[in-house]
Amino acid sequence: MSEKNENKKEIRVWCDGCYDMVHFGHANSLRQAKALGDVLIVGVHTDEEISKHKGPPVFTQEERYKMVKAIKWVDQVVEGAPYVTTLETLDKYQCDFCVHGDDITVTADGIDTYHLVKKAGRYREVQRTAGVSTTDLVGRMLLLTREHFKRGDKEYSVALEHSSNLGTDSTARSPYTGCSQFLPTTQKIIQFSSGLSPKPTDKVVYVAGAFDLFHVGHLDFLEEAHKQGDFLIVGLHTDLEVNRYKGSNYPIMNLHERVLSVLACKYVHEVVIGAPYSVTAELMDHFRVKVVCHGVTTIATDADGIDPYRVPKQRGCFKILNSGNSMTTEDIVQRIIRHRLEFEVRNTRKEKKELAITKALKNDQHLKQNGNCEVTNNS
Ligand code: CTP
Ligand code: C5P
Repeated sequence: MSEKNENKKEIRVWCDGCYDMVHFGHANSLRQAKALGDVLIVGVHTDEEISKHKGPPVFTQEERYKMVKAIKWVDQVVEGAPYVTTLETLDKYQCDFCVHGDDITVTADGIDTYHLVKKAGRYREVQRTAGVSTTDLVGRMLLLTREHFKRGDKEYSVALEHSSNLGTDSTARSPYTGCSQFLPTTQKIIQFSSGLSPKPTDKVVYVAGAFDLFHVGHLDFLEEAHKQGDFLIVGLHTDLEVNRYKGSNYPIMNLHERVLSVLACKYVHEVVIGAPYSVTAELMDHFRVKVVCHGVTTIATDADGIDPYRVPKQRGCFKILNSGNSMTTEDIVQRIIRHRLEFEVRNTRKEKKELAITKALKNDQHLKQNGNCEVTNNS
């Protein structure tokens, strides 16, 4: 192994996970993993494996594979990677070591999924992104249903009843998933951005939207938009603006979070943070935009009742793109609501396991500090 390593020009890094409802926390862990080597290989578990160990995922394996492939730090995705990371898997893909966030992942039987690679010294840890988790997003979506509850809808009153522990009760939460609010910094934006500017000869493409709960529908659209030119700029509307045209509790993710989700996508070169709803002549001239695109979804008018694409249409550079994917943010929220009880069980189980492990680790540390136990370092 070591001799082989010496001859290797590049360091190959392995990551694996469920990557259900991919968010910028996942992307940030992959960014950190990539920084530890040259090539990043990501193993994604099947629906069957996840159901067995954690409970059914919200997104299908095909959707999850596609989402991970589109994260800009990922070089290769291994579909159907085993839940417990083995040395055989690392060797099969010529990976030097495995990287995971500083939280604990266990199998249905409570075994650390990384115990084999930790024991072999082929495990590295990166910092988990505080304040974002699938659990928290689900909590936010379920809070959305309070609006319906107030109107007396029975279906949603059940959701409310069962959602009381999701994303709200911080006292009983695990230190990994039950953490505080996400604190966006300029450093994080710099780490996520491409740092590129369009070359004078580049054909600049501009698209704008909410891009809330960044999903495969957005991804397919951005892939098409990317094909229209050389440099893709995505304008993100402010939370107030999105709330104006989407209503209810939308957006589920705030502007800072949406910026990071979109920046993590390999098709995107630049993001306008808080873009005007109507695509103005000033904006088009400033960024030298040659083509403006929108998907096949409905286009809401601006607050003054005017078509937001009036200027690009007048200039003859507006294009509707059909990505062939009809997924919407609303569809995701509906999927979550349909699966809310499974989610509740899954998250409660996960947090219980994490709390138990943390307690055991604290006990262990206490013993070590009191000189009653040998110190071992396996991470
Ligand atoms: N991860 C992270 N920061 C987060 C969420 C996840 O760094 N806020 C990391 C995990 O530590 C892991 C990788 O993303 O290395 C894949 O995580 P995954 O197996 O999909 O599951 P969870 O950790 O369960 O994600 P979540 O809490 O969002 O369900
Ligand atoms: O709805 P939202 O503002 O997030 O959409 C952003 C862009 O993605 C819009 O141009 C929309 O038409 C496009 N889209 C798409 N296919 C989907 C979902 C969104 O083309 N399934």
